[in-house]
Amino acid sequence: MHAGRLAELLGRWSSGNEALYLKLAARLEALIERGEIPADGRLPTERALAAELAVSRNTAVAAYDVLRDHGLVERRRGSGTFVRRPPRPGRGVVAEFNPMFLHLLDPVPDLIDLTCAAPPQPACLPEVVAEAALGDLGIGYHPSGIPALRQAIAGFYAAQGLPTDPGQIVVTSGAQQAISLLAQLFLRPGDAVAVEELTYPGALDAFRGSGARILGVPLTADGVSVPGLAEVVAGAKLVYLVPAFQNPTGSVLPSHAARRVVALCESHGVPLVDDQVLAGLTLDGPRPTPLARHGGGVISVGSLSKLIWGGVRIGWVRADPRTAADLARLKAVADLGTDVVAQAVGVALFARLDRLRAERQCELRERRDQVVRDLRAALPSWEFRTPPGGQTLWIRLPGVDSRRFAQFALRYGVALLEGTSLAAHESSSEHIRVPFTLPREALSEAVRRLRQAWEDYPRANGAGLALSGAAVADECDGHATFPAERDDEPAGRGSPVRPGREHLR
Ligand SMILES: Cc1ncc(COP(=O)(O)O)c(C=O)c1O
Repeated sequence: MHAGRLAELLGRWSSGNEALYLKLAARLEALIERGEIPADGRLPTERALAAELAVSRNTAVAAYDVLRDHGLVERRRGSGTFVRRPPRPGRGVVAEFNPMFLHLLDPVPDLIDLTCAAPPQPACLPEVVAEAALGDLGIGYHPSGIPALRQAIAGFYAAQGLPTDPGQIVVTSGAQQAISLLAQLFLRPGDAVAVEELTYPGALDAFRGSGARILGVPLTADGVSVPGLAEVVAGAKLVYLVPAFQNPTGSVLPSHAARRVVALCESHGVPLVDDQVLAGLTLDGPRPTPLARHGGGVISVGSLSKLIWGGVRIGWVRADPRTAADLARLKAVADLGTDVVAQAVGVALFARLDRLRAERQCELRERRDQVVRDLRAALPSWEFRTPPGGQTLWIRLPGVDSRRFAQFALRYGVALLEGTSLAAHESSSEHIRVPFTLPREALSEAVRRLRQAWEDYPRANGAGLALSGAAVADECDGHATFPAERDDEPAGRGSPVRPGREHLR
């Protein structure tokens, strides 16, 4: 298995108080037990794994020794380390799985999580929940969504100059499900989907889950490259774009380019999905125009998750009535409809949307400006533009492999989303995505920890710092300052204690 892929699967293995080699061994053990590393699969060399994880080679050697002592791997002199234990029978393994989801599934206290960009729970929520009126919803199954919510969403589009019939709306469990249903509807294994070369990782996972081939279209400072899209559109079965405050770069596709994109897709008969989840988060300048304003066939995806809160899980699709009807069938198979109580809360939230959006924008603007100031002062070599909206900074760490730096930063109590997780194609990346959704004190603390990690990183890694560098100095591991690290030298390696469940994080 490639060391980079293994590092992704390992996720935040290095958080916690035990010695690094024990934490690494415990995490590898969990992956082997779950069958995520196939039996007979060859693990990366100690040197490659150490370089990828920004640890000393001793740490990798000791972790592999623990696995050998537990009977999980075989160490063959000269040819490598091989997994011995077969996975539990009768269980498939979820193959595509990005680090963002890993961090959600495996939360660690005291870690500042910069992998997921999501707003905090709004203070008014209890009030809104109390206000929510259910009315008579019959037996409660509404695969397309309850009438009041479909009406509210249709009104939301009408207010943006897009007259919409409620029959064009399908309510989903967040935009994530909307994207998954669209993938199910339009993509068969082997079909191609064109996306911006950097994009929302949840969409990449959904498309890969459908067995689709991903065609990454180059990005410019102004969103997707129209000539780049023109080159691939004929071979695609679906085009998926985030033209408003693009995730992760924050760019906005200008109207003239948006018109050309819509015309291009129409002329090739390829459905175009406009992911508008971030479109309401304007911080400077006007609200971007939905692509559907430029052509009738555009499918819009939206959600309350970023405007209000991800916990309500209210998303939707706006499409032509036939596509909406097809999606409703898929939605019925998926879950028979989104929870109607959450939908009633959604209706109450739509009634307050203008005020809540203004509050969210104000909060995000303050947090963005603060983190921009702090980063420019603390980490002047980091390169980024201040985005006009959205909720993330796209930062270049010059000359540094961001995956390795992300591994290193974990030991300072910060989880980062490295650029490769957002890339349509496997590549190394010098970029990280940093959200500014956390409270201001947490953002200040994150910058402080990142600065410390950055200061220690060159000293710790020497040649490992550069993208091309591979070797990691053996004495590097003792520098970690958070969470409190025990001496990394694997004491008592001859008879390691079998790690308990608490080590499996
Ligand atoms: C561009 C984009 N689309 C879709 C989603 C998924 O949103 P939801 O929480 O509504 O499922 C996200 C979440 O981060 C996103 O950034």
